Amino acid sequence: MAQRDPEQYTPGDDGLIVEKVGSWAVEKLKLVTDYVYASGGARKKYLGTGAAYIDPFCGSGRAKIRGTTTFIDGSPVASFKRALQSPGRFTSINISDGDQELLAAATKRLTALRAPVQPVSGPASEAIPKIIQSLDKNGLHLALLDPYNLGALSFDLFEGLARLKHIDVIAHVSVSDLQRNAARYADEDYDQFDKFAPDWRTKVSTDMTKAAFRAAILKYWSTKVTALGLPQAKHWELIRGDQGQRLYWLILLARHDLAHGLWAKVSSAAKSPTFDF
Ligand SMILES: C[S@@+](CC[C@H](N)C(=O)[O-])C[C@H]1O[C@@H](n2cnc3c(N)ncnc32)[C@H](O)[C@@H]1O
Repeated sequence: MAQRDPEQYTPGDDGLIVEKVGSWAVEKLKLVTDYVYASGGARKKYLGTGAAYIDPFCGSGRAKIRGTTTFIDGSPVASFKRALQSPGRFTSINISDGDQELLAAATKRLTALRAPVQPVSGPASEAIPKIIQSLDKNGLHLALLDPYNLGALSFDLFEGLARLKHIDVIAHVSVSDLQRNAARYADEDYDQFDKFAPDWRTKVSTDMTKAAFRAAILKYWSTKVTALGLPQAKHWELIRGDQGQRLYWLILLARHDLAHGLWAKVSSAAKSPTFDF
């Protein structure tokens, strides 16, 4: 393991690098893997054409819950394993990460499980076109977009994925980044919002309260993603930290009703999206 911040990374129980994560990562992974399991029946019909799991922010494939001795599988490993328990496995596990060491660790962990892993070097904006190029356009694919911040959740990722006919996307939209940094990102010197929601400067005024500005950016992004032909599930799952603080939403984007029905079943879908900041 290269020299790393010991607060963030540590050797894992299998000797490979793991990231230290908050306990809320368990909630995120439960929702993602519940969706993987629930969509197994639909995936089964596409085993001939292709049913890929796409994870361009894959991490190392394993994590340690901060302040505990508990290790958990990271998203690519947990999703691969859960699909095996469902009626439809994934025909490929297409992973990437901007951090080469993490990508290599995830690849090793998946290879050890005999997963059909296809690693591609990051960053995500470079990896996604290569991954899409390698997939059957008529297959049924599932992508998890799980970056730390809004700038990395760049709009070109959605544009690329929307080219696939049958694609479900689960995206991590960081509320904490929005709440902490929206005013800073609005400054000409920052390009985070330009990546997240291109052309926002011509469409969203900054001449409003901070809360109204955050809501307006998010609504603009939401409209742009919908215009790609990727409708969002009504329910945005809010993931909270240990102190109850709002961390991020997990959002499902998908064209077919079945996906929305499954999301409603596996998420706490009784709630509606809220734009209260
Ligand atoms: C929240 S972690 C992913 C955790 C993983 N999905 C899981 O649940 O186990 C975000 C990952 O994104 C990677 N990353 C950050 N910026 C990136 C970028 N622009 N392109 C690709 N990966 C990036 C980081 O190295 C980190 O591993």
